[in-house]
Amino acid sequence: MRDAAPTTIFLKDYTPFGFIIDGVELTFRLAPKATRVLSRIKFRPNPDATDKRFFLHGESLTLISAAIDGKSADVRDVDGGIEADVPDAPFVWEAEVEINPQDNTALEGLYMSNGMYCTQCEAEGFRKITYYPDRPDVMAAFEVTIEGNEKVLLSNGNPLSQSQGFAKWQDPWPKPAYLFALVAGDLLNHPGTFTTKSGRQVDLNIWVRPGDENKCAFGMQALKDSMKWDEDVYGREYDLDLFNIVAVDDFNMGAMENKGLNVFNSSCVLASPETSTDGNFERIEAIIAHEYFHNWTGNRITCRDWFQLCLKEGLTVYRDQQFTADLRSAPVARISNVLALRGRQFPEDQGPLSHPVRPESFQEINNFYTATVYEKGAEVIGMLKTLVGDAAYSKAVDLYFDRHDGDAATIEDWLQVFEDSTGRDLGQFKRWYSQSGTPRLTVREDYDGDTFTLHLSQSTAPTPGQDEKLPQVIPVAVGLLSPNGDEVMATQILELTEAEQSFRFEGHATRPIPSILRDFSAPVILEQGIDKTRRAFLLAHDTDPFNRWEAGRMLARESLLASITTGAAPDAAYLDGLGAVLRDDTLDAAYRALMLGQPTQSELAGLLHEAGITPDPEAIHTASEDLRNAKAAAFGDLLPVLYQDNQIDGPYSPDADGSGKRSLANAALSLISRTDGGALAAEQYAKADNMTLQLAALSCLLDAGAGKEQLAAFEQQWHDDRLVMDKWFSLQIMQAKPDQVAEVTKRLTQHPDFDMKNPNRFRAVMGALSMHHAGFHHKNGAAYALLAEWLIKLDPVNPQTTARMCSAFQTWKRYDPARQTMMSAELDRIANTKDLSRDTNEMITRIRS
Ligand code: ARG
Ligand code: ZN
Repeated sequence: MRDAAPTTIFLKDYTPFGFIIDGVELTFRLAPKATRVLSRIKFRPNPDATDKRFFLHGESLTLISAAIDGKSADVRDVDGGIEADVPDAPFVWEAEVEINPQDNTALEGLYMSNGMYCTQCEAEGFRKITYYPDRPDVMAAFEVTIEGNEKVLLSNGNPLSQSQGFAKWQDPWPKPAYLFALVAGDLLNHPGTFTTKSGRQVDLNIWVRPGDENKCAFGMQALKDSMKWDEDVYGREYDLDLFNIVAVDDFNMGAMENKGLNVFNSSCVLASPETSTDGNFERIEAIIAHEYFHNWTGNRITCRDWFQLCLKEGLTVYRDQQFTADLRSAPVARISNVLALRGRQFPEDQGPLSHPVRPESFQEINNFYTATVYEKGAEVIGMLKTLVGDAAYSKAVDLYFDRHDGDAATIEDWLQVFEDSTGRDLGQFKRWYSQSGTPRLTVREDYDGDTFTLHLSQSTAPTPGQDEKLPQVIPVAVGLLSPNGDEVMATQILELTEAEQSFRFEGHATRPIPSILRDFSAPVILEQGIDKTRRAFLLAHDTDPFNRWEAGRMLARESLLASITTGAAPDAAYLDGLGAVLRDDTLDAAYRALMLGQPTQSELAGLLHEAGITPDPEAIHTASEDLRNAKAAAFGDLLPVLYQDNQIDGPYSPDADGSGKRSLANAALSLISRTDGGALAAEQYAKADNMTLQLAALSCLLDAGAGKEQLAAFEQQWHDDRLVMDKWFSLQIMQAKPDQVAEVTKRLTQHPDFDMKNPNRFRAVMGALSMHHAGFHHKNGAAYALLAEWLIKLDPVNPQTTARMCSAFQTWKRYDPARQTMMSAELDRIANTKDLSRDTNEMITRIRS
């Protein structure tokens, strides 16, 4: 076995594997530095395949023995695995390999985290466990035997037998290797049960390390809610008698949907009021739902190849977003999703890393678990639903489950069920999967005394590898308002399919005011060319909650851009309109808290860049601070009222109502702290009995230049809690002044609890550094150098996490020549590092291109 050389893999080159698997038996003899894995796999020739080569992936394996039909096999080492000559008939492959979980710091394959064994196989980690056709279109039923001294030995499916030091598991559902999982450790379980709609009882468990058992109740409830929701809304019932979740401290991503044995980053499942914020609770609920929903969209129907990743991820994100909207507030959920899309996906799609929702080539698939595949992928599903309607969507999805259950499917299969069940031609719609870049939707209005006309046009700027863009199908949700604010036309969906198209609305005796792209009906940049008065009108009157919020956001945006480019003072019309919204108690607290927010500094940098202006991080920072100070001054009387009215008596509950109130109170507090030196925040800190209030108070104190004492007390209180300490690390960087960000970060890397091997801790520190716009881009270049230095250190240890964090540099070409030169030098330094991983190499190459 040799390591695979970096090669580019193309969607167009797909060919099926030459063999079918009739069953897999694995035996694990666990030992930290020398685990033995025995495999017994029944193969038979695949009549549909032309490539008959018997090739098995393998990486970092020591082969002890291999046999075919009981006779020692001659295996040849080839790039990325082994080859052997095999009979043209069914045969049994047996192999024994040795692996080293203890030294597996890449956290891919079988590795150890805090003394427990666990696995992460998606996308291509199973090849680090044994020789296997590690590709999602090869599906098989697995039987797994585990021999180890740990109290708890888990794998996929149902337990067949268990005794001291031994467990045997059987998963009846054929699955690709990426859904394999094994966990072994001295764990405790938080149990639960769920009765499915057909009356079957399913045992549920959340497995954790001792000490974490009081942080499972919320996750368990979220799991039950998810199981119920998938039955009610998608008609999908769980298909095993057991569902296990395990919390793992060292994990590259959020969580993983292994069949019947989901493995979670502990930050995405463990929750308690004292240690988790409302945001943590919400995220945990969504991720538990996401992984559970994968059981049908991902596991029962999987992907033919990794180019189809959005088939399971886009759809599953869409489903978890629907779930959150149903359980909590739909408008608040939608606004949060759009904020995330604009914050993460837009910059990706408008820079050197831009790629289609379904990429056509890659070197390292782990680099394509992106906001584009996930979040834009979910937007594409949402648009499809908008275009065909709710009932047709349900019917098509039912057909998808009927037709493809047990398949490794493609985007073509997905679109075909919609074509077959609705009769619609989705040929043009498919461009959403193949064209990268964010379309720009431009609007012009006409009115002749009776007919109101909207002239819509679309265009997409060139992206890497795609110079020409064709028009896409854009569902544009539009409503019309009268000048007194009444809705005179309820929301309609306009289907923009051409580069330019006009839509007429007749019989309007007075000129209506349009509300366009309601509920953010497509992931595009809307250019309306409207003035402040119009935006203020929509902020006061729009009947679509998303667009009402958007009107305020646009006013804030324009106010900030004017301050940055001309030094203008914050816009009084914006502050007036915002004040009226904040005083309106018929609007829920969470919504008003979102209204109080303003565009991030990196969003502003992106907007300036789009407008052909080189962003100046210092000026952006100053303007942002000025606007916040202007709010603090303008709402001096209102903020204490908002703060008081949203205090909650009684026990903490992370529900929508409670978290909404806390978010508004905390938003008010952060502005109040700008004028009272942190006095109220200190009071809140002293009496806080939950992390949401405690952390917000500490954040306000640091922002006010105070909080030294509380910061130390916080560390004292929480030094034994890894997840809370991650917050402590991040917060100090997030709240540092721009010229101190690099220094603070550097100091924190010298803290005894900084451990680069733990992805959560590394991200808490380096992620905060790269997300502090003014600090990261400080003109002294110290932050650029510090991040590069740490990426170079981490790469040999954990390529996946290193590669992901390289995206901090993806916007480097936006900035002035001096900053570009500094960032480019750091990118070169990383690129020229000896033995750079394939993951990081691909990212740096794309970012530099
Ligand atoms: N399928 C997982 C999820 O979305 C993500 C796993 C990604 N892992 C990776 N190494 N790329 O829930
Ligand atoms: Zn997923």
